[in-house]
Amino acid sequence: MTVSYENIIEKIKEQMNIVDLIEEYLYLKKSGSNYIGLCPFHSEKTPSFTVSDEKQIYHCFGCGAGGDGITFIMQRENLDFKDAVKFLADKYNIPWEEGVDLKDEEEKNDIYNINKEAAKFFLNELAENNVAKEYLKNRNISSTISKTFGLGFAPDSWDKLINHLRKSGFETDLMYRAGLVSKNKDTERFFDKFRNRIIFPIIDTKSRVIGFGGRVLDRSLPKYLNSPDTPVFNKGFYLYGLNIISKNKDRKRIILVEGYMDVISLFTKGINSSVASLGTALTRPQSKLLKRYGKEIYICYDGDSAGRRATLKAIDILLEEEVEPRIILLQDDMDPDDFINQRGLPAFEKAIEESLHYFDFKVHLLREKYDISEPTQKIKFVREVANILKRLNSKVEQDIYAEKISKDTGVSKEAIYQEIGTNNRPKYRIRQTEKIEPIIDLLPKAYIKAEMDIIGFTLINKDYFEKISEFIHVDDFIDSECKYCYLLISDFYSIKDKIEKSELLEELKDDDKSLERFKEIVNHIPHFEPENEDKVINDIIKTIKKSELLRKRSNLLIQIQGIEKKENDLDNFHRLIKELTELNKQITTTD
Ligand code: UTP
Ligand code: MN
Repeated sequence: MTVSYENIIEKIKEQMNIVDLIEEYLYLKKSGSNYIGLCPFHSEKTPSFTVSDEKQIYHCFGCGAGGDGITFIMQRENLDFKDAVKFLADKYNIPWEEGVDLKDEEEKNDIYNINKEAAKFFLNELAENNVAKEYLKNRNISSTISKTFGLGFAPDSWDKLINHLRKSGFETDLMYRAGLVSKNKDTERFFDKFRNRIIFPIIDTKSRVIGFGGRVLDRSLPKYLNSPDTPVFNKGFYLYGLNIISKNKDRKRIILVEGYMDVISLFTKGINSSVASLGTALTRPQSKLLKRYGKEIYICYDGDSAGRRATLKAIDILLEEEVEPRIILLQDDMDPDDFINQRGLPAFEKAIEESLHYFDFKVHLLREKYDISEPTQKIKFVREVANILKRLNSKVEQDIYAEKISKDTGVSKEAIYQEIGTNNRPKYRIRQTEKIEPIIDLLPKAYIKAEMDIIGFTLINKDYFEKISEFIHVDDFIDSECKYCYLLISDFYSIKDKIEKSELLEELKDDDKSLERFKEIVNHIPHFEPENEDKVINDIIKTIKKSELLRKRSNLLIQIQGIEKKENDLDNFHRLIKELTELNKQITTTD
């Protein structure tokens, strides 16, 4: 069987930016439209190694090495072609299936073709249906805009699309594999998946229709139906509107919004730089896309509490990619679509101008949560602020913000620093010169287990939650799914005394990974006799503290290796070694 890695390579190329990739290995400096650095493949004193962002290739004028990102990895990591592709697929979280063969390529082409035909069908149906046209008109979508986005309408019929596609020569089974039709489990009969819905085709940067979203015309549920994952579509890997952004020359700014309608309404009013995360919590591959397509990333989610939570989560995911987002706040629980339609473009531009650095956004939420004119609340406020400050990238930044908070709240800078303490945790990610292993892989399994135990514990009753929250802050969670579950739980407990698991399941339904984690937690809620309560809590907290130390040690070791390789920076080296010794001491004493 001929094996082709075409589609994996294509996915890699969608995620990879050669400048970012190479910068993980060597220092690059911008020079004209290119980047230059010292060639890693031969020894030189003046840089002749050139990387082109535009062409996504590198070339060394000294030794002649050159190629694309895959070639670079082959040379640098000393891998053959196949293993270099595998290496990059791992790096960008692209599922790797052994033996991706040419049949897959054919299947994908078939699906693109049938999707294109279906999109045409929906488009024609829209032209014929006055109710649907009226709906779009009421939502301020002109026919020009409707065409730009290829909007359509799925008629209220069980088989009109099936019949049309059959007549056009497509087989029912392909319609099913493309997610255009569903199958009745009992009778095994096929029927149109999208019925009586406005259709939003999802188009990729190569102008291919990869999937569809369909919205009801009234208040019935579910509001939107989306294509299932197919060989050409995986919603966590794409952003709605990216096809439009990719055509912009100026990719300075990207605004991340929640929904189809937000993208379209912003576009209508003149903002052609927004994308939507397709109804899922922002994923890592999506944040890589954002990083690649935009220089400044703004998050503008809905103004309600779910939107706020989603914003906090998106911030963390972006920070893992070293993107520091700004947050656009909209008043009165509006979403960008409502806002720009009701208030107009100038008001939205003003909101962009007044957007908050992600750090200020977090502080802003805390200001809402605590009444700092109250001494006890003020203490809690400062403690939480210190927790966020700890994670800032540089000491300088830390200082600037500590200063600002001190001015705003009247808490002295010393008091803030005292809270930050000596236990200064590692930042989101350490820049390394050598191969980067995601921090998550270094996480001791026990750590995640302890985080899950904590959450399970807080689910038992509010008392336990309050006890735990004395010791653990949401930003202490390392596993991002656990973190999200904990955030959700604290939101729930802030308005009610008892939590129904079904409510949480409902909240998590669009976030597959957190949902899975939550189910696991619910199935393993710790059991214990009430009289052992304190001991159980203490044990959990001890595990967390211990694993945190271990995690810190892993990070330190990576940093130290990085310095050893560079053989400069002796001061730093000594400092790290001292820290390591100190840590080792702490670890042995907690045993
Ligand atoms: P919203 O409920 O905010 O939708 O969900 P919206 O885009 O503002 O739509 P309108 O203004 O009510 O028409 C945000 C996004 O979440 C996904 C969709 O991608 C939607 O655009 N979603 C929402 C679903 O996939 N399914 C749903 O049932 C609801
Ligand atoms: Mn809306």
